[in-house]
Amino acid sequence: MAVHVVSKTDNRQHATFQLLEQQQPLRPSSVRVRASLITLSSNNLSYALGGTRLHWWDTYPVPATAPAPYNDNSAWGIVPAWGFATVLESTIPDIDAGTTLYGYWPTSQHAVDLQLAADEVPGHWKETSGHRTALMPLYNRYNVLDISNRDSESLGWEVGIKPVLLAGYVLSQYVFTPDPKLNPLVHPFGGTEGWDTGTADLSKSVFVSLSASTKTARSLAYYFYCRPAGSGPLRFLQVTSSPAAIVEAADKFLPQFPVKAVGYDEVESVETWLSDAKGERIIIADFGARYRALDRLRGVIDSSISLKDLKVTILQIGNQQKVYTPGEARAAQAEIVALSKVRTNTSAIQETAIELQGAAPYFSEYDKRWKQWLEHRECAAPDLELVWGEGVVGDTGVEGAWDRLGQGQVRPEEVLVYRMFNERSGRL
Ligand SMILES: NC(=O)c1ccc[n+]([C@@H]2O[C@H](COP(=O)([O-])OP(=O)(O)OC[C@H]3O[C@@H](n4cnc5c(N)ncnc54)[C@H](OP(=O)(O)O)[C@@H]3O)[C@@H](O)[C@H]2O)c1
Repeated sequence: MAVHVVSKTDNRQHATFQLLEQQQPLRPSSVRVRASLITLSSNNLSYALGGTRLHWWDTYPVPATAPAPYNDNSAWGIVPAWGFATVLESTIPDIDAGTTLYGYWPTSQHAVDLQLAADEVPGHWKETSGHRTALMPLYNRYNVLDISNRDSESLGWEVGIKPVLLAGYVLSQYVFTPDPKLNPLVHPFGGTEGWDTGTADLSKSVFVSLSASTKTARSLAYYFYCRPAGSGPLRFLQVTSSPAAIVEAADKFLPQFPVKAVGYDEVESVETWLSDAKGERIIIADFGARYRALDRLRGVIDSSISLKDLKVTILQIGNQQKVYTPGEARAAQAEIVALSKVRTNTSAIQETAIELQGAAPYFSEYDKRWKQWLEHRECAAPDLELVWGEGVVGDTGVEGAWDRLGQGQVRPEEVLVYRMFNERSGRL
């Protein structure tokens, strides 16, 4: 079975190898699974970049039976990815072989074991293995999915979009809650301290989304467009290499606030549009902007008579679609501190929301809102297209995707999904 590994010190270096599976007896409260359909996006580059600090490398350690040098877990790691897997074997009475689980998988075809404990919502499980305790809770959550009546197109969208849609959902629903009585206010880094209704009130704010065609930014835009009347920002500016597609999506939803999308080369021209909003605050969400867009926007604000005294809040959400050198990674961390950027953590927001609201209402609402996105897909993301790949090895597999992502070659409209293995046919 093919396994994909990435160098922990230089994420550009990656390799594949074949692993002969040596099956040990399955432990109690466990399932043995194999990934069937996964997605890859810039998000996976972040899992490698922050893999040691945020423990993403702990998810699926390289098996000890891997050939050298890849069996050295201090040097090589398996980048995890969101998607589906099929249960091959189970010692959990409620989960049969053949069940499909949604969650976080290795970007490989080898079978892995999960030790699961039932969560309070039926069909929801938590991974409890010792080696995964430092991983953030979001990445240890799994749920059973009935895919019996689903076509491959809708499964592709679920795998390709649902993982990143969550970030936009929790930001719009909890960090900038439209109604604190219905949805508790949560700090972008989780918890409730240091984030008040004044900061979260969009109605006096101009909101700027940088790198607006990332799937994560598109999800925030979508949930903004769906907000109840009067709860959106005064104006919503999106900066991207694909302004036409982003404006097309906005036009389809007829948002109740003015929306504008500009290219990276137009950042210097937005002063009047932002000033005319007569806002009290500017919120900038940085999803990983290129071409020094954040610096240039700050320049526009600082040199504007009507904008320079406004309170500016910068949310740090994502990184550029590229492999960062150690120097670039250090500079990005230093910039967060220097600009007092507010770090955003989807896992921490979700866990606080669950704690305050209860898991059942939280997941029931999110599932409903996800299904609405699927129904609205052609409006929400008119230019997005599923790009199907297969397996691990070669240009059309995970290996090729890693090269393209690392070199910033995955175009804004591409949603990469990979068929990993089909247990029924025993093939890809
Ligand atoms: N903090 C959190 O909790 C959280 C949660 C989810 C995701 N994230 C982060 O958000 C970021 C975005 O993730 P994603 O998976 O949504 O991204 P994605 O869809 O893979 O992003 C693709 C985008 O990258 C931009 N891009 C950058 N360099 C490019 C190049 N050379 N050629 C073409 N396009 C390029 C384009 O956007 P533009 O042209 O519009 O710039 C393109 O639309 C990641 O860093 C991810 O880790 C953070």
